[in-house]
Amino acid sequence: MYTDLTGKVVIITGAATGIGKAIATRLANEGCKVVINYFKKEENPEAIVKEIEQAGGHASIIQGDVSKEEDVKAFVQFAHDTYGSLDIYVNNAGVENEVPSENLSIEDWQTVINTNLTGTFLGCREAAKYMLDHNIKGSIINISSVHEIIPWPHFVHYAASKGGVKLLMESLALEFAPDGIRVNNIAPGAIDTPINAEKFSDPEKKKGVEKLIPIGYIGEPEQVASCAAFLASEQASYVTGTTLVVDGGMTKYPGFQAGKG
Ligand code: BGC
Repeated sequence: MYTDLTGKVVIITGAATGIGKAIATRLANEGCKVVINYFKKEENPEAIVKEIEQAGGHASIIQGDVSKEEDVKAFVQFAHDTYGSLDIYVNNAGVENEVPSENLSIEDWQTVINTNLTGTFLGCREAAKYMLDHNIKGSIINISSVHEIIPWPHFVHYAASKGGVKLLMESLALEFAPDGIRVNNIAPGAIDTPINAEKFSDPEKKKGVEKLIPIGYIGEPEQVASCAAFLASEQASYVTGTTLVVDGGMTKYPGFQAGKG
């Protein structure tokens, strides 16, 4: 538990499912007041609010598209109107699809870049603006991916977006450090979430992914959420401009694990 998180106001994008949901649940358990953004009604955002409230926590939902400037501004206004502050902003919403690059359409390229990179920029910008205006020494956390480091054929738009989020985060961290606003990334590896459900339901594909993970298994969203709680808290007060990689060792060249090379 991080006691300094009690009463802090947090916005988490794409928080009705997967990693975002786990972060929302964890931060609510830490005593934060949680604004849950979702995009599509099918994500059933009411379910997580109910769970949080039943556990004695505070949560509210707001629909919106992270790639739209007006929507992101509305998230911040909503947090202010509902809970009177904004202390932590988690850019979690993300999309991916597999396409050989010679056939990658401009529409697919733009959808992924707009959500993953532009959406993260807008979240960072609006959160930082609010924190500066209200003299809040806040924490901004971007959920990137191991693909801010590892190249990924057939997912080049995704890898490009996450590589972009890395330097976006590092540049913003430098810019806002004097104001006490910390900006960091979490780079999850293969995690058991809806984005991967189809891939991991195929035992062969799942085994293929597990071979890339030195620790030997697919991660759980809660294992990412615990890192988000740390970065949000005062325990990480001297941490800014860094990526916390949460990948069971995936980025550490698993092909070399047997000691050959
Ligand atoms: C992607 C997953 C993928 C993992 C490791 C994540 O960023 O969302 O689909 O399994 O990276 O490649």
